Amino acid sequence: MEKLIIEGGRPLYGDVRISGAKNAALPLMAATLLAPGKHILRNMPDLRDTRTFVRLMENLGVESERSGDVLSLDTTNLLHTEAPYELVKTMRASVLVLGPLLARFGKAKVSLPGGCAIGARPINFHIMGLERLGVTCKLEGGYVDASIAGQMKGNVIYFDIPSVTGTENLLMASVLAEGTTVLKNAAREPEIGNLVDMLNGMGAKIEGRDTDKLTIHGVTHLTPADCSIIPDRIETGTYLIAIAASGGAGTVTNCNPAHLPSLLEKLRGVGLTITETDTTISVGWSDHAKKQQVVRSVDIKTMPYPGYPTDLQAQFMALMALSTDTCVINETIFENRFMHVAELHRMGAKIRIDGHFAVVTGQGLNGLNGAPVMATDLRASSSLVIAGLAASGRTEISRIYHLERGYENLVDKLTTLGAKVWKEQE
Ligand code: EPZ
Repeated sequence: MEKLIIEGGRPLYGDVRISGAKNAALPLMAATLLAPGKHILRNMPDLRDTRTFVRLMENLGVESERSGDVLSLDTTNLLHTEAPYELVKTMRASVLVLGPLLARFGKAKVSLPGGCAIGARPINFHIMGLERLGVTCKLEGGYVDASIAGQMKGNVIYFDIPSVTGTENLLMASVLAEGTTVLKNAAREPEIGNLVDMLNGMGAKIEGRDTDKLTIHGVTHLTPADCSIIPDRIETGTYLIAIAASGGAGTVTNCNPAHLPSLLEKLRGVGLTITETDTTISVGWSDHAKKQQVVRSVDIKTMPYPGYPTDLQAQFMALMALSTDTCVINETIFENRFMHVAELHRMGAKIRIDGHFAVVTGQGLNGLNGAPVMATDLRASSSLVIAGLAASGRTEISRIYHLERGYENLVDKLTTLGAKVWKEQE
């Protein structure tokens, strides 16, 4: 296995280009199963998770071809409708093939995803919604074996919690149903808007984009897509926080500031100067903050979009470890998303956990020291990278396959910003 080495304490300066969003690329790939033919997906990031999803699609019989950041998927001749455990266990988003396979073929057998480091990650809302559309779902042997004789019938589906992939799965299941389906308390993340645009471009009739109520008027067939994947808002936020934590200044390009309303306000609250254009965000320390060496402590509470994203909680905590006061971080989405805390402790951070709350007592801009640490999940590992960039001395991060799931060309992008970072064999 590989580890990442960071010689910290060097301010980052310059521009960094954002890749396509992992959490849009996965549902959009699944949606190509809805219509036979050759689909084109542009701005496709090259990540461990997107490569895993392509393998899952090829296992179903899809023919894929990649040219630069354009991925074409030919879904004309599918061999079967089963997603095996070997593939699903490494990436729970594989459950996203359930809805489209049922819509096109009336049957699908998909391994239950199982939990992951950050939580149990159940899919009961996905199953509830499919059953509301007339699907029979049998849970046996670690698989969901789902089928329906004939067409799904539109219905009203209410989510107890606005589930992102739950909303996506049921959007894809209902586009070919007979009649109208309404998803209530639906998730509103930008990645869902990206999927709605793709499906409507294929001939679907979906209303309510970006709201918590999506109305889907069933149609009889769809045609292949040619669409672009939105920029990755979590990668964007990760680099903004990394530049800030390093004490430098820089610009994130090929991004969409409108997708990060909560983070940008929080960063301004910390004392950073944030300037935006339609496709860039520049970040740097205000003169006051620089002169006073003050990183203000700001509380965050993770919420469904447009609230503060849970996927940027760990990264923000690393920044707060450098603050000059105390803040409270409330993680309301997942039950075990503080795995980075024990590792940040090893670097000198002062953080106390009480259930869903973490109390961070900042140690100032020079409060972290490099140390050997271990990545546990995708976003926790990016928090350790940020801490390593800010810390004095050397940080070695093991199990960096977690990082490679969601950050394209991380070493190149950080090196371009002036970081001293490289990979070595463990
Ligand atoms: C998506 O996961 C993202 N993954 C996650 O990003 C992200 O953290 C999460 O949404 C929240 O924003 C993808 O889009 C591929 P949820 P998802 O269903 O859809 C509970 C990353 O780092 N729930 O919105 O699985 C669930 O346990 C990943 O890129 C049920 O109880 O999350 C959680 O507490 C990590 N039953 C809450 O709802 C269900 O059937 C929100 O989960 C579904 C979810």
